[in-house]
Amino acid sequence: MSVHVQNTRMTTAKVRQMKQNGEKIAMLTSYDFTLASLVDEAGIDMILVGDSASNVVCGNQYTLPMTVDEMIFLTKGVVRAAQHALVVCDMPFGSYQVSEEEGVRNAIRILKESGCDAVKIEGGEEVLPAIRHMIQIGVPVMGHLGLTPQSVNQFGGYGLRAKEEAEADKLLHDAKLLDEAGCFAITLEKIPAALAERVTQAVSCPVIGIGAGNATDGQVLVLHDMLGLNQGFKPKFLRHFANLAEEVKGAVGSYISAVKDLSFPSAEESY
Ligand code: KIV
Repeated sequence: MSVHVQNTRMTTAKVRQMKQNGEKIAMLTSYDFTLASLVDEAGIDMILVGDSASNVVCGNQYTLPMTVDEMIFLTKGVVRAAQHALVVCDMPFGSYQVSEEEGVRNAIRILKESGCDAVKIEGGEEVLPAIRHMIQIGVPVMGHLGLTPQSVNQFGGYGLRAKEEAEADKLLHDAKLLDEAGCFAITLEKIPAALAERVTQAVSCPVIGIGAGNATDGQVLVLHDMLGLNQGFKPKFLRHFANLAEEVKGAVGSYISAVKDLSFPSAEESY
């Protein structure tokens, strides 16, 4: 007797199909098993293990310090949690820029050791040979254009990108190259909404925006930011869907009081 098991896991093909169907794609970051389980159970389409872990998990100012080993460590927990969502792991700074060969080697390592479904890479034409090679050997790649935080030192900050015509033209050109190379999706970060709309219409792969307006095929946010855990960070594009910082501090405050006034643990909570 054969048992039919329905496969409800997202795949890159399903993500592409969502664009064809006009169905919006919801993506969030996660960096650990517990929160990724909740995000997955809530029905998210894709989880990004972003190198934003450098900021929200490790407390660094920039994403640059993350290593391949650290990204693999975090991604393993997320992959164990994801029953439905497609898991994408950011390739950290320095892991794909030096040479095509080194980039491909690191992408293979990330896929093999973390169990993720795809990698994400910042940049356009400059990193195209590595991206092409990865896709040729079976590593699904998500591109990332616009504000690319790994280039913060070159940009001199996290301001809006592609405001000027020359940069907007390069971005559109890069997006077409990534699409032609076979990227299954492209992230567009912090660019004018009108440009994001042009890019979304110009490429066949889904475009996932962050600070790029609502004409893209989907949206991504950093989980800690949208949950309101990260109080100091509130750019214009960010919406707080919860205020967990207050919830957490309230709960911790109650715990401290209960420990100090001996109301915790109670007789019922003791053996
Ligand atoms: O690292 C990250 O979380 C990202 C998103 C902001 C797109 O790249």
